[in-house]
Amino acid sequence: MKKIAVVGAGFIGRSWSILFARAGYSVSLHDRDTEVLGRAPAFIDTSIAELISLGLLDDATAVRERISTGTDLAEALAGAVHVQEAVSERLEIKQAVFAELDQLADADTVLASSSSTIPTSELSETLAGRGRCLLAHPLNPPHLVPVVEVVPTPWTAPEVVERTRGLLTAIGQMPVVMKKEVPGFIVNRLQIAVLNEAFRLIDDDCIDADELDKAMTHGLGLRWSVVGPFDTIDLNAARGVSHYVEIFGEMFHQAMKDRGEPRRWSESSIKAVEETMRTRLPVEEIPDRQAWRDRKLAELAVLRARSEQAEAEDGE
Ligand SMILES: NC(=O)c1ccc[n+]([C@@H]2O[C@H](COP(=O)([O-])OP(=O)(O)OC[C@H]3O[C@@H](n4cnc5c(N)ncnc54)[C@H](O)[C@@H]3O)[C@@H](O)[C@H]2O)c1
Repeated sequence: MKKIAVVGAGFIGRSWSILFARAGYSVSLHDRDTEVLGRAPAFIDTSIAELISLGLLDDATAVRERISTGTDLAEALAGAVHVQEAVSERLEIKQAVFAELDQLADADTVLASSSSTIPTSELSETLAGRGRCLLAHPLNPPHLVPVVEVVPTPWTAPEVVERTRGLLTAIGQMPVVMKKEVPGFIVNRLQIAVLNEAFRLIDDDCIDADELDKAMTHGLGLRWSVVGPFDTIDLNAARGVSHYVEIFGEMFHQAMKDRGEPRRWSESSIKAVEETMRTRLPVEEIPDRQAWRDRKLAELAVLRARSEQAEAEDGE
């Protein structure tokens, strides 16, 4: 059985472990904090039970037995074909961890960072094995959201990108491979563009946060979960993208032409959104709402799996 090392046993590391173990890998889950490691099995069991209840996993025992935990980094890395780093989001911590990983891991082991914001070039530039380092950034929680942004540094070997793409596909994730590093990678850049406009609409007193969220969850977001933005416009005009641009391009340009530099999110619009959100959801209920969100994501994963299976059977 091939082995994966997951370094950091917080939210993201635990979730990665389930994904790799579900795909048949043996997983060494490492953290320097014994308390975190002690709590990890219970978190993993809860997530596995949810996956089982939704029919997204058959054999809980096999998955649990493939995951071991430990504080000895060298032991965790021994024989691993891939290291998925998921330690705290602090530059100096990640730099120190990557230096250790590069020293301790086998020479052809891929070293992948889960960082949401730190480009892997900043963690690997001075390392002897920098060619095997890259970013594999999941969305939270990885075991329910398939997309993983794969971002090479200027010195990542192309073969490392392809191996990572292959591994992520094999464990049931959806790798999205970028050509180069850019701040915010892909998903956060798109999210920032939407948030910039959303805060601006609040600032200009065009809408309140409740109504705006509905426009996304019952409209744009619903559609985007089936077709991406380019696919959307290709299907919204009889002759595809160019035809769509012919019809709507000028109007869209006029609507946004005064944008220039993005406006800083104003204190007043942040306060207005905060007030709406706290009326909707008291702070102490955020953990319950997170669990509700994850449950909904899992239900959508079930629907998607059924739909894809039916489509595949139709095609046979
Ligand atoms: N939480 C999210 O929504 C999310 C989403 C995608 C990616 N990420 C990224 O995943 C990474 C982990 O995030 P998280 O939310 O799981 O954080 P977390 O705080 O839950 O877990 C981080 C873990 O790293 C451990 N750690 C710190 N220094 C260490 C070291 N030197 N050696 C071993 N373990 C060490 C900590 O003990 C902690 O358990 C971050 O880079 C973050 O940007 C987070």
